[in-house]
Amino acid sequence: MAVQTVPVVTIDGPSGSGKGTIARRVAQALGWHLLDSGALYRLVALAAARRGISQDDDAALGALAAEMRVRFDSNDAGEERIWLGNEDVTDEVRTEDCGRGASRVAVMPAVRQALVGLQESFRRMPGLVADGRDMGTRIFPQAQVKVFLTASPSERAKRRHKQLKDKGIDVSLPALSRDIEARDKRDSERSIDPLRPADDARELDSSKLTIDEVSQLVLDWVGERCKES
Ligand code: C5P
Repeated sequence: MAVQTVPVVTIDGPSGSGKGTIARRVAQALGWHLLDSGALYRLVALAAARRGISQDDDAALGALAAEMRVRFDSNDAGEERIWLGNEDVTDEVRTEDCGRGASRVAVMPAVRQALVGLQESFRRMPGLVADGRDMGTRIFPQAQVKVFLTASPSERAKRRHKQLKDKGIDVSLPALSRDIEARDKRDSERSIDPLRPADDARELDSSKLTIDEVSQLVLDWVGERCKES
């Protein structure tokens, strides 16, 4: 019997490019699973802070990432929740502080290695939409559709600002811009699995496009690729 391959769509890109929103929309439209890989790095940062592990202790962070018990689900209101062990840590994981910590622990080779198997385990029928920085280059190099989503730095800062404001979090726009710039630099200059488009990725600048337009473009690409295979 032929082994059925589980189709994968990868959406990589810098902070604030909208990849999380687009990945969620596309996964919903297709009825596929979703992997928010950034949340895993955020969970490592959170768990490390709680245990007092330094953000540059590669071996200890790697061991922590390997034993972390993580679960994603949704509550009765349909909101996505993120669990670390038996604790709902969704709100903590989404803070800017945790995002900054995530980009620091994400530089550590043992952390990246420890999370490979966990990320691969999300690839289940009928398909997976995975968003992050290295989904198309490292974790799912055989993905059927690879998207590299960008937007201008000012647009990304504005979007992030609005997202946080909607959640009642007050951050200054200039401070957010500086933070995004620092994170971009760290993510693209690290030696292991840096942020970069896969050779076969389609690059998409979302600066002047709506969420609906970007989602539709990605869905059209998925449709094209599925027809081909
Ligand atoms: O996407 P998100 O902002 O949640 O990611 C937080 C951080 O985790 C990023 O700034 C990046 O350093 C790291 N990350 C990564 N590889 C991924 C996803 C996220 O290094 N696949």
